[in-house]
Amino acid sequence: MDTLTITRPDDWHLHLRAGAALKDTVRDAARHFARAIVMPNLKPPIVTTEQAAAYRTAILEARPRESAWQPLMTLYLTEATSPEEIDTATSSGFVHGVKYYPAGATTHSEAGVTDIDSVSAVLERMEKNGLPLLIHGEVTDPNVDIFDREAVFIDRVLAPLMQRFSELKIVLEHITTSEAVQFVGEADSRLAATITPQHLLFNRNQLLSGGIRPHYYCLPVLKRDSHQKALINAATSGSPKYFLGTDSAPHGRHDKETACGCAGCYSHHAAIELYSEAFETAGALDKLEAFASFFGADFYGLPRNSDTVTLRKSPWQLPDSCSLGDEELIPLHAGETLQWQVVGD
Ligand code: DOR
Ligand code: ZN
Repeated sequence: MDTLTITRPDDWHLHLRAGAALKDTVRDAARHFARAIVMPNLKPPIVTTEQAAAYRTAILEARPRESAWQPLMTLYLTEATSPEEIDTATSSGFVHGVKYYPAGATTHSEAGVTDIDSVSAVLERMEKNGLPLLIHGEVTDPNVDIFDREAVFIDRVLAPLMQRFSELKIVLEHITTSEAVQFVGEADSRLAATITPQHLLFNRNQLLSGGIRPHYYCLPVLKRDSHQKALINAATSGSPKYFLGTDSAPHGRHDKETACGCAGCYSHHAAIELYSEAFETAGALDKLEAFASFFGADFYGLPRNSDTVTLRKSPWQLPDSCSLGDEELIPLHAGETLQWQVVGD
């Protein structure tokens, strides 16, 4: 098989940033995808529907002319979020989820939630309104090893949360472990998970063996190869619980290549192409379309896209470097060769 036509995909987890970066991030996001769930971890974070509306306008202004790509907005959950704000968000029609960052877990998460019990009234309202909770699933306890933080989060926070809010729709974002795959697989259908291209293609050797490679550093951090295999099996299983979410998260080169580098891999220079590589390596290209283009829309209760993109097997080299507003950015897998490229889009 050397060409593959699939329904146009969507990205269910994306960081676009703000300001001068938008013209680059939005252009790339809109190139082959139809929609994206836009993460709210700006500085300051997007905590109200009104702020989400202004951010959405800025994103749409940065969109290439004639593009029909759509940003699907989210709110950033804080301990000050009110149930009324959830009603406003739900009725807006453009807010599609609320992101829960455990305070201190990752980039710009300082305003996140320290005590999940303090947001019970908000979670109840989300459950009632059918608005999904999008979770960064890592504990922040400094005594927990960084490679165990997702598995411990599932035990300590997610499992009790699901019991307490038995109808709440939840996306466990960017899963990275066999424990997460098992938990999502055994849960009822209101729990789903996104999977990034880097967690399908790489494991921690890519990050740490033969030299430290900051452009492969993201959170949750890449795990050992047995976890990578579990994620590949999940993504290619045909289960509607797993769908595409790149977590493409740009940081300028200088913020990555430094003594304390930022977490985040930029992948929208080649997002669907990176996933194609992972699915082909697994012998499962026939499973790519549903993962990339059906299951996320179905979970969020949105229509599937009706047009298509075509990929051709024809090796090409990823760029060494891109721009992010006024900064330089090193994209995921920079300078390496991929087998699949999009044609005629
Ligand atoms: O690697 C990451 N980068 N993980 C996150 O959770 C946040 C993201 C970012 O915004 O840079
Ligand atoms: Zn993210």
